This record gives sequence, structure tokens and C-alpha cells, in this order.
Amino acid sequence: MPSGWPSTGGTRSASTSRRLPSPGRLPPPTAPPSPGAARFEAVDLEHWSTDDEYDLVTASFFHSPVALTRASILRTAASRVVPGGHLLIVTHAAVPPWAPPEMHADHNLLTPDEEIAQLDLDLNLWDVRIKELRPRETVDPEGRAAIIDDGVVLLQRRSPLLPRRRLQER
Ligand SMILES: C[S@@+](CC[C@H](N)C(=O)[O-])C[C@H]1O[C@@H](n2cnc3c(N)ncnc32)[C@H](O)[C@@H]1O
Repeated sequence: MPSGWPSTGGTRSASTSRRLPSPGRLPPPTAPPSPGAARFEAVDLEHWSTDDEYDLVTASFFHSPVALTRASILRTAASRVVPGGHLLIVTHAAVPPWAPPEMHADHNLLTPDEEIAQLDLDLNLWDVRIKELRPRETVDPEGRAAIIDDGVVLLQRRSPLLPRRRLQER
């Protein structure tokens, strides 16, 4: 993201939000974002709502072994994207090749097509810009090279001011 954008981050993990930039340098959570400000909040997104609007909403590896109304949360977030703005979702699209199946039995990992279907957004109002599986090089717990599939879904909310463009086939 270019520097200078006001941004808001949310996670349920209080420890994660403590590791983020010093609250002393940030406005209090109730203040509207000022240009260039970053704001991080420890929130349960199950109960989150906002009147703010965003040029970009992004969720990375938003998975949880506990019950999570994930699609509903992402739809709420999508509803705050301005016309012409983007929703970017990066996911674990497959379990690690080294993991025993029972380790991820509670996770319902989706392909990009399944992700888009589950979002159930009105595709008359959104253009699919990217829907890809992206293999990523990593190492397994034994230190051996391994490949893991990430999913990337980028949707753009249509704007009457922007020309329509088709998804580029790669
Ligand atoms: C696998 S971690 C990914 C963390 C980070 N986004 C990343 O890309 O490394 C999943 C995150 O989802 C957050 N999370 C899960 N359920 C949540 C909820 N109901 N409300 C807010 N955050 C939640 C967890 O706190 C955790 O930080």
C-alpha cells in the first residue's frame, strides 16, 4: 500500500494488536482517520460495523479453528468499499502437504472460485479482477522445501465513472 493512506486494521487477538505500532502514535479508536494515520483495533469482527468507507479492504489468511461467520464478515467489509474500490482476500487455499488431514479438519479451505461463490456478492456490482491459486515456496517442519497453495481473490466494486474491464486470462 502506498504510504500516506489512512488505514484501519482489526483483529480479535489483543496480543497481535499490541505488537502493532505504538498506540501512543495513533489516534484513539473513536477518532476518524486522519491522512496517513494507521489505526489498529482489537475487535470481534462478528459484531463489527462501521460507517467508514474504504478504497481497499483486505483480509489475509482470515481463517480460524473456532466458529467464524467468515463469509458474513467479509460481506460486511465489502459493503464498506467505495465504488471503484477493491476487496482483496488472500487465503490458505489448501492444507500444507505435510499436515495430517485431521490437523485441519475444522478448516473449510476454499478455492478462489468457491471463495467468490461463498461471498455471494452481486456480480452486477463487482468485477472479478483476480482469482488465482498461487503456489508459494516454504519449508515443512523438518526444514524440507515444500509448496503450499495460497488463494488470491481481488474484486473491484463497479463505479459508473470507471470503464468496464474483463478479467485478464493468465
Ligand atoms: C491465521 S491468522 C492471520 C493473521 C494475519 N492477517 C496474517 O496474514 O498473518 C487469523 C487472524 O484472524 C483473526 N480472527 C479470527 N476470528 C476473528 C474474529 N471473529 N474477529 C476478529 N479477528 C478474528 C485472528 O485473531 C487472527 O489474527
